[in-house]
Amino acid sequence: MNKDFISIHDLSLYDFHEILDLTVKMKANPRSYRKALKNNALAMIFQKPSLRTRMTFEVGMLELGGHAIYMSPSDGQVGVRESFYDVGKNLERWVQGIMIRTFAQQNILDLAAAVKIPVINALSDLLHPCQAMADFFTLKEKVGALSKLNLAYVGDGNNVCHSLMLAGAKAGTAMSVATPAGYEPKPEIVRLAEADGRETGFSLTLTDDPGKAVARADAVYTDVWASMGQEAEKTERARIFAPFQVNRDLMAQAKKGALFMHCLPAHRGDEVTDEVIDSPVSIVFDQAENRLHVQKVIMLLLMGHKEKNG
Ligand code: CP
Ligand code: NVA
Repeated sequence: MNKDFISIHDLSLYDFHEILDLTVKMKANPRSYRKALKNNALAMIFQKPSLRTRMTFEVGMLELGGHAIYMSPSDGQVGVRESFYDVGKNLERWVQGIMIRTFAQQNILDLAAAVKIPVINALSDLLHPCQAMADFFTLKEKVGALSKLNLAYVGDGNNVCHSLMLAGAKAGTAMSVATPAGYEPKPEIVRLAEADGRETGFSLTLTDDPGKAVARADAVYTDVWASMGQEAEKTERARIFAPFQVNRDLMAQAKKGALFMHCLPAHRGDEVTDEVIDSPVSIVFDQAENRLHVQKVIMLLLMGHKEKNG
């Protein structure tokens, strides 16, 4: 593994599958790892709100015998009161890892370049790699072979969509992404995914037709129409994205029994109806649970030594 976990693109195929395989083991036998990060501390810089990410990193460190320290958006005012560089140069004297949720991807790259300790991307405007790793782990649990999987993403071509494409490229998944015109995934991420996917059998279809995207889907994924930081665009986006709602009619166009996925938080009644998110095919809380298991493995691989286990 590299020093940091910033983008799934940075992982080798070996790393990608090692994270998934070790997560199977750790989830089945968490007690074996309860001292794996003993005496390790993780600083968690949050510049945006969170439920799942904060809870799963904090509980994850607890379960590995270490400790996590929450820095709220007002704590230290990273990047305002003090630069990312200076904050990093301080933190590395006290803690063994940094998790960061911020706006610009460049903030994470700057922080990672400044410090010798691992930096974990816990969401930027561009990427949400921990989420996508947990999602592919969940798909592997539920469906099996990721290379035989057909995954449809319907909605905004955002950070979650980008990381899902990069994970799909490593896994060799067939992906279809439906977005309104003007809200497509960024071309540079599409290019990276296509390049990474050349050796795995990955395929990617981009469309503005949700029905076309879900036609062969084993799983249908959506996310909020306005991400954190885009609150001012909420009304306009609600109008533009309305035809992209995942509802009973759209799910009926997917494969019979197709799963429903969402990174959460969900805006019920917007991107997904209650009927779909509360239905038996919805695996959204399994995804949320698996954030814990996958991130424990990521922290262990970056901060720990596997021989410490047991
Ligand atoms: N999915 C996710 O990252 O949730 P939070 O924003 O609550 O952390
Ligand atoms: N795209 C969403 C994901 C939240 C986990 C956001 O960035 O707000």
